[in-house]
Amino acid sequence: MLAVQQLEAGYGESVILRQVTLQVRPGQVVCLLGRNGVGKTTLMKSIMGVLKARRGTVTYKGTDLTKRAPGERAKKGIGYVPQGREIFPQLTVFENVLLGLEACKEKKRAIPESAVAKFPVLPSMYGRRGGDLSGGQQQQLAFARALASEPELLLLDEPCEGIQPSIVDDIRDVIRSIKAGGDTAILLAEQSLEFVKSVGDYFYILEKGSIAWEGGLSDLNDEVIRHYLTV
Ligand SMILES: Nc1ncnc2c1ncn2[C@@H]1O[C@H](COP(=O)(O)OP(=O)(O)OP(=O)(O)O)[C@@H](O)[C@H]1O
Ligand SMILES: [Mg+2]
Repeated sequence: MLAVQQLEAGYGESVILRQVTLQVRPGQVVCLLGRNGVGKTTLMKSIMGVLKARRGTVTYKGTDLTKRAPGERAKKGIGYVPQGREIFPQLTVFENVLLGLEACKEKKRAIPESAVAKFPVLPSMYGRRGGDLSGGQQQQLAFARALASEPELLLLDEPCEGIQPSIVDDIRDVIRSIKAGGDTAILLAEQSLEFVKSVGDYFYILEKGSIAWEGGLSDLNDEVIRHYLTV
């Protein structure tokens, strides 16, 4: 579904990602692991097109998207929940979710039931400003915004970061229900191994901007964890 080949990307003079190659298959939850600053977010941005690739390719469902703008990638079916959520604080919760519809292939006027049904608390807050929500509520909002366009590939960048445990549980349930649906693949950058083990199918470990290890979740043993992930 998603194939990243030999990707190189960075900021200004600095090269952050080097020769990154990874794949996400339909219906899979693929986890992107690695210590702080190894390039997980940079990779997410490059896949979404927010950051241009310097070398290599990003192919989605057989189409080379490497030179396409982020909006076009969204319309092809890629949804993105950025690290730090990036909701619009001055807009209402409803307007924030509505913005997700901009990424739809066809012009849709209504927010699909499936996008908000997973976060039942959201409709009751539709009139509030996004900026007035708690961090956990904003995370749910960012998630629902991404689901509004009914993506087939969802990029989740540390969705549990700084979130209270009950909302982490909610997010885990949402990821599981998306996975159970079988149609949507997920690429999940995540630091919590417990979380990764509870939802993931396959993992890649980034180290200094390159893929250092990969495997099925059962291959994520203590030695690999100690070597690549323990701080
Ligand atoms: N806008 C930017 N301009 C310059 N350098 C940046 C920028 N954003 C990130 N970097 C650098 O790129 C490297 C990778 O950062 P990135 O945010 O991709 O890491 P990460 O794995 O997502 O980290 P974290 O786990 O803390 O979210 C870091 O050295 C960081 O300082
Ligand atoms: Mg990051």
